[in-house]
Amino acid sequence: MSRLGKMPSWQRSFVVISMLACSMSGSLYLLGHEFQVQRSALGNHHILAVHGVLAMIAILALGSVLPFHLKAGLKSKKKWFSGFGQLSFLVALLFTGALLYYGPVEIREGVVMTHWVLGVLFFIVFLFHSLLPLNIRLTDKQKGMP
Ligand code: HEM
Ligand code: HEM
Repeated sequence: MSRLGKMPSWQRSFVVISMLACSMSGSLYLLGHEFQVQRSALGNHHILAVHGVLAMIAILALGSVLPFHLKAGLKSKKKWFSGFGQLSFLVALLFTGALLYYGPVEIREGVVMTHWVLGVLFFIVFLFHSLLPLNIRLTDKQKGMP
């Protein structure tokens, strides 16, 4: 049975891996740089640069869900809260990410804090939105359901 909002497997892997990699690299830098956990290993410029590049790839993945997944998801009337929630977080992460590069120095501290708080919220909502269905599908398979 085809389910509204279900992605082809290449796209699901691309979206899940790139969003997780972007969120994890951001979280590692956050731990190292803001919370001084293993600061020299986690809070260094390489991790920040890796996060910047993975963020670009994550935005490419976001672009791939816009034409079909959003429309199908809306029609299915399921997961609206997490779907719109994570979409809004991603848009806000894009803006705050751009401000981190090009914004005025005077507001940088506030932007950094806003960016990582939104990032952590996005990470949590994304796990619920996209990995829970995979989990349910695996459980269905174990039960021999279609
Ligand atoms: C209006 C916004 C959105 C709605 C209403 C929505 C709705 C849905 C629904 C109903 C499913 C379950 C499909 C199934 O069980 O087969 C789903 C799965 C999923 N969604 Fe969304 N979604 C939205 C936005 C997004 C965004 C922005 C992303 C990416 C950042 C995303 C990534 C995913 C992924 C990776 C899955 C799992 C795919 C799969 O198992 O085939 N969604 N979504
Ligand atoms: C797709 C979504 C995201 C985009 C577009 C994005 C973009 C960016 C950009 C452009 C930077 C600046 C990189 C640099 O200065 O070289 C940055 C920094 C950062 N991001 Fe993200 N990011 C995203 C998601 C996240 C997530 C999910 C988290 C955390 C859980 C996060 C945490 C951070 C942190 C802690 C910094 C360092 C801020 C600083 O101290 O300069 N980001 N992000």
